[in-house]
Amino acid sequence: MSHPIFTPYTLGEIKLQNKIIMAPLTRCRAINGNQPNALMATYYGQRASAGLIIAEGTSPSPNGLGYTNIPGLYNKKQMEGWKQTTQAVHEKGGKIFLQMMHTGRIAHSDNLPEDGKVIGPSAIAQPGSISTYENGKQPYPVPEALTHEGVKYTIQEYVNSAKLAIEAGFDGVEIHSAHGYLPNQFINTASNQRTDEYGGTIENRCRFVLEIAQKMIAAIGANQTGIRISPYSYADTNETEENINQSYIYVADQLDKLNIAYIHLSHMGEADERKFALWKEIRKHYSGTLILCGDFTLETAKKSLDENQADLIAFGRDFIANPDLVERFQNGYPLAERNREGWYGNGGEGYTNYSRYSLNMN
Ligand SMILES: Cc1cc2nc3c(=O)[nH]c(=O)nc-3n(C[C@H](O)[C@H](O)[C@H](O)COP(=O)(O)O)c2cc1C
Repeated sequence: MSHPIFTPYTLGEIKLQNKIIMAPLTRCRAINGNQPNALMATYYGQRASAGLIIAEGTSPSPNGLGYTNIPGLYNKKQMEGWKQTTQAVHEKGGKIFLQMMHTGRIAHSDNLPEDGKVIGPSAIAQPGSISTYENGKQPYPVPEALTHEGVKYTIQEYVNSAKLAIEAGFDGVEIHSAHGYLPNQFINTASNQRTDEYGGTIENRCRFVLEIAQKMIAAIGANQTGIRISPYSYADTNETEENINQSYIYVADQLDKLNIAYIHLSHMGEADERKFALWKEIRKHYSGTLILCGDFTLETAKKSLDENQADLIAFGRDFIANPDLVERFQNGYPLAERNREGWYGNGGEGYTNYSRYSLNMN
């Protein structure tokens, strides 16, 4: 009998054909002015056997296009461009959410369109450097601190973009509140020193993302709205353990009240026992669908489901070289090797040219 990981799951109003989720993966192929294109549609269509695809981080604003060649979704043209992707996936029986990613201070003005600027909760630069289109690696700039009106405007940009996502045919939207991007910049005291109601206490620092969630749910529905968080990964590491735990349990409690479709917990970087202990706590505080992601193999994924640690498991890097990851898992076929070349741009090479497994391959 097949393991439950290969059996369907009902997520809100949609039926997922299995519990293997494709994690959001920035691939930097929106080479013409951040416009989603046919090549991207081909790539996602190839991966339609995932239970759910969560398409790559996509900016809801000209201000959020901090990396080179990442897609946007804040105008009609981009919306029309994304239709190619949703159609390609739906035609093959797949389901697809779009991840909404605002880079905030993880950006450089060289990468932004003319009407974009580098913004953040406070005028504090991200440490380190970022690749730019024309000038190689550059230090992260000091972002412009959002005014109170600016915060409200940015929240509205997420909501508008979510509506466009539904118009483009996505089954829902995932708010990217992980890995140090804008909502995470609000949660973290290292990037948020505000003195208004969006800074200071845990409640205040979490207000930005919770308002986005609440307003998005009001606009497109709770079943269509998910969220990704990554406690103890990246920007949170300079916080005290107590602060991180309290912040994310508060977030989980609030999201539970909002009936959000899912929480997606992401682990990248060091495997930290405190992180995994918090995941278990979040499971207790949040009664909806939980997705886990980070360093899973088929075996550890099955174990997590068997132990009821999660409802769904997401895979990132393995979906890059294995468009047919689900079939490979199902049949015990070997996985193609991970190859970083082509992760962040290179046309179809390292993107759409990975083949499905064939018994004649070797
Ligand atoms: C090339 C690449 C791009 C990524 N882009 C995103 C992204 O846009 N949004 C996001 O939340 N995570 C992103 N991630 C993280 C993945 O979603 C995932 O969490 C990570 O790869 C760990 O899962 P894995 O061990 O199964 O690969 C990216 C990872 C890689 C390797």
